[in-house]
Amino acid sequence: MNVHAAALAKAHRFDDRTSAFAQDVLEGLSLQPKRLPPKYFYDVAGSELFEQITLLPEYYPTRTELGILRDRAKEIAAIVPQGAALVEFGAGSTTKVRLLLSECDFGAYVPVDISGDFLNAQARALRADFPGLDVYPVTADFTAPFALPAGVKAMPKVGFFPGSTLGNFEPHEACGFLRSARKILGEGAQMIIGVDLEKDERVLVDAYNDAAGITARFNLNVLVRINAELGGNFDLKAFTHRAIYNRERHRIEMHLISRKAQTVRVLGRSFAFRSGETIHTESSYKYSLDRFTGLAQSSGWKPTASWTDSGGMFSVHALVASD
Ligand code: AVI
Repeated sequence: MNVHAAALAKAHRFDDRTSAFAQDVLEGLSLQPKRLPPKYFYDVAGSELFEQITLLPEYYPTRTELGILRDRAKEIAAIVPQGAALVEFGAGSTTKVRLLLSECDFGAYVPVDISGDFLNAQARALRADFPGLDVYPVTADFTAPFALPAGVKAMPKVGFFPGSTLGNFEPHEACGFLRSARKILGEGAQMIIGVDLEKDERVLVDAYNDAAGITARFNLNVLVRINAELGGNFDLKAFTHRAIYNRERHRIEMHLISRKAQTVRVLGRSFAFRSGETIHTESSYKYSLDRFTGLAQSSGWKPTASWTDSGGMFSVHALVASD
């Protein structure tokens, strides 16, 4: 924690997590254009909204990736070593990992997530459904280095990073994550990773501007959190959700647009908004197969197989740690 964050934490009696949130919000709202990191969408309400997003008719990534994993589970089983530990970076719904656990002969499952309560509930359910499987939940921020449990040290390792969560990282962060995952998993490790693909702009824009308005609520949830946790006074009706495709940078951008000129207060500081001014809340990068394999190669991994759906909407890649 830096000096400023430490002072904030002390003055407001914040725990470490809330002071990091406070610092990121104060910094992000001071930038031009204003920004907020997407990781703050995911409190309990935000995670529930995200689960609803994954079921929306416009949001194709989840069901498309599931289809690929279902169709290709046998091929994946043929390339992963028997008795390996499957290390999942982030742990949301267990639907995808269940497909792999049913088809492949894994010796252990290691879900890694910042939310310990959620992780332990998921682990209990998996232990009940896969009685022979050792499940070792690790409560950690998976974007930073963490230690694997002693029980899996001697096993071969297979990383699992579905959902195109990699797309929410800036390209340099995506490279940093892949390098760090390689270090954590070690020599000879493999990785199964889901990556969303570039496609018709209309399909992309609709996927992030659903007709039912769930993505809008998900986006606005970060302001709800700032109001509840940091004593902010954002008027939710004075901001509107917008998602656009930035073709040059190959990314969907989510924004919250100020409907009028207004001033918002957070933790005793004032932030002025012009009418139409935006807070950039998320980027979701879309890759071509070539651009992703190039990224993997420059980040310590050798691509060994990739699979897409028949419409070429989404991709799943198998990688092996390179020297
Ligand atoms: C979690 N992540 C991969 C989602 C995405 O598509 O970028 C988050 C999301 N944002 C809006 N809708 C879904």
